[in-house]
Amino acid sequence: MTKETVEELRRTSIASIEAADSLDQLDSIRRGIVGKKGSVTQLLKGMGSAAPELRKELGSLINELKKELEQLAESRREQLARAAMDERLAEEWIDISLPVGAKPALAGRGGIHPLTRVQRELEHIFRGLGFTVVDGPEVETDYCNFEALNIPDTHPARDMQDTFFTTCGHLLRTHTSSIQVRSLQRLSPPLRIVAPGRCFRYERLDASHEHTFYQMEGMMIDRDVNVGHLIYFMRTLLREIFGSEQKIRLRPGYFPFVEPGFELDIWFQGRWLELLPCGLVHPKVLEFGGIDPKEWNGFAFGLGLSRLVMSRFQIDDIRHLQSGDLRFARQFR
Ligand code: PHE
Repeated sequence: MTKETVEELRRTSIASIEAADSLDQLDSIRRGIVGKKGSVTQLLKGMGSAAPELRKELGSLINELKKELEQLAESRREQLARAAMDERLAEEWIDISLPVGAKPALAGRGGIHPLTRVQRELEHIFRGLGFTVVDGPEVETDYCNFEALNIPDTHPARDMQDTFFTTCGHLLRTHTSSIQVRSLQRLSPPLRIVAPGRCFRYERLDASHEHTFYQMEGMMIDRDVNVGHLIYFMRTLLREIFGSEQKIRLRPGYFPFVEPGFELDIWFQGRWLELLPCGLVHPKVLEFGGIDPKEWNGFAFGLGLSRLVMSRFQIDDIRHLQSGDLRFARQFR
């Protein structure tokens, strides 16, 4: 073994490291040079065959060579890794300014249900009028759904709102008016609330009756509220929803929790549509809520959300709304 042997090995090793064009290839080349059975390692082991006076010098030459080649392999590795990353980045690059392809997007994209859409619009309108959006439970107590709304146990009005009862005497709320009670209990006047929600009734089902439907309750309690205020808010609401002034009429309507009570109808497609039962909050309801009716009064309304959605989107059967039928839902994306 001579210096030439070392030099020769240096040249061939450098050439093969530099020729490696993948990380895998480089790895096996590196092992073939500086690994346990690699050429440089072998050379070091074969020192015995060198002339004794050269051993020291050759030994340090080989050790240096080993270091040099290891460094070279490392920098080649970095080079190859960077190139591989660049290649991946070039391949996986996404042009975010490109319009999404119409086909795949339409196939899988969901949409907002028309009920949700109208509910959100209404919430937005009412917030603008100083109302707070509140919520209440779908499983209600008899007290909040009937009793505190001036509908005692024996009252015939209960017959009009038959519903589903739990074994412990609670019920699925028949209207969002139960949230009037909860709001009176929790908040103090003056107050303005709207409460959208799902209601349930034991109904004979047809195109305009469903066991599950949506309402939006509204209530304003303040001093000296009169029917003029009620009409003003209802008009404003309908103008916001429909985009123009609507022809409306008030008919007397009976609900035990308002006095006087009205049915507010709107002129829609050539006929009167019953849309908004409403009235001035009955003093007894205020009393049930712990509020002095001599000092405070107010109005309440129970907007038929499902109805409104039907007239807005010209849906001819209320049962479509909760059908889960994609052919229906897709029309509103
Ligand atoms: N809760 C009544 C219903 O569901 C509607 C209503 C609400 C009437 C508020 C007057 C005031 O039929």
